[in-house]
Amino acid sequence: MARINEHYAKLPASYLFPEIGRRVRAYQAAHPDAKVIRLGIGDVTEPLAPAITEAMHAAVDEMGKRETFHGYGPEQGYDFLVEAIRQNDYAARGVDIAADEIFVSDGSKCDSGNIQEIFALGARIAVTDPVYPVYVDSNVMAGRTAAAGPDGRYPGFTYLVGTEANGFQPEPPAEPVDVVYLCSPNNPTGTVATRAQLERWVAWAKANDSIILFDAAYESYISDPSLPRSIYEIPGAKDVALELRSFSKRAGFTGVRCAFMVVPKGVTGVDPSGKRVALNALWARRHTTKFNGASYVVQRGAAAAYSPAGLEQTNAQIAFYMENARLLRESLGAAGFTIFGGVHAPYLWIRTTGGASSWDFFDQLLTKAQVVGTPGAGFGPAGEGYFRLSAFNSRANIEEAIGRIRKAFG
Ligand code: MLT
Repeated sequence: MARINEHYAKLPASYLFPEIGRRVRAYQAAHPDAKVIRLGIGDVTEPLAPAITEAMHAAVDEMGKRETFHGYGPEQGYDFLVEAIRQNDYAARGVDIAADEIFVSDGSKCDSGNIQEIFALGARIAVTDPVYPVYVDSNVMAGRTAAAGPDGRYPGFTYLVGTEANGFQPEPPAEPVDVVYLCSPNNPTGTVATRAQLERWVAWAKANDSIILFDAAYESYISDPSLPRSIYEIPGAKDVALELRSFSKRAGFTGVRCAFMVVPKGVTGVDPSGKRVALNALWARRHTTKFNGASYVVQRGAAAAYSPAGLEQTNAQIAFYMENARLLRESLGAAGFTIFGGVHAPYLWIRTTGGASSWDFFDQLLTKAQVVGTPGAGFGPAGEGYFRLSAFNSRANIEEAIGRIRKAFG
């Protein structure tokens, strides 16, 4: 008899976005004529940039010829992509990252869910609340927590609560913590950490011998040049932080799948004897054991996002989504909603109206305006009373959604 991993029983029955999908399908089945506009899951809607599809077509052709065919590639990623990442994402911002500190993968969701494997079961983990649920759920699955309490919190985590008062950017904890997950620009609140805030985090991590897992999947939505896009822009961060980056929102790769994680060789943990071990070596062991590399065609597409044409085209897509965010923010703000984020991120974090719970507000928005968003409570107890709207959609749908929401809640 195979005993199952009992820690799964501590999780809600389904992951947040499939649960939203289930509710929307039920509504759509009961109202087949309703034209539902989806601003829930942050999924891109613009097609791949021409520079990317051209590169992918060429790569497919290479795969079809004996002389240029590729079988298994390097697990950490092809040199052409790793070099493009090093130069464009790091050297151009004054950060030196070595090729063997970059691990190309098939998505930041997997990376952020898998990274906890290299830490001890007894490692003390801190997460923000609200938070991208993968950080929490993957640690619950691993057995680092007890069952959630009545307040929805898992004993075993340190929760760093984001509130309106702290601009949804909580300060480092006073208690000792081994690993903290940070996300900036933040999913779900759409807020962004300043240089001073990141400096405090790095100083705290150094002082406490802690590790920062810095999820920068939305860095390309930052428009203020004074804001750091990488935690490595903060001196000392290469000793304490890993960074996750993704092509999903940067280049429209949600359906293509490509991302990378930076694991600097200076970041260490300790083994049971107290000996220092480089996380780079552990992650390399894990990556090469469980992953055979992102596909050649996909990596050619990702590299093309860094070509002059690719940069111009993908930057135009980002500007398009950020104009959607501006329209949502200004129009709904003028209609009386209290809105956070949406300036350096494609997400708006909205206070529900009339004291509605976030799931009630989800139902109201769906039934009154046929607009889907994401209830804040799905991102943790501190998300209760808030609601997330994504700016990923066509201009016509964004304008239609604004009109419907204003009419329904005006
Ligand atoms: C979201 O909507 O939070 C994201 O699309 C989820 C993800 O990137 O996995």
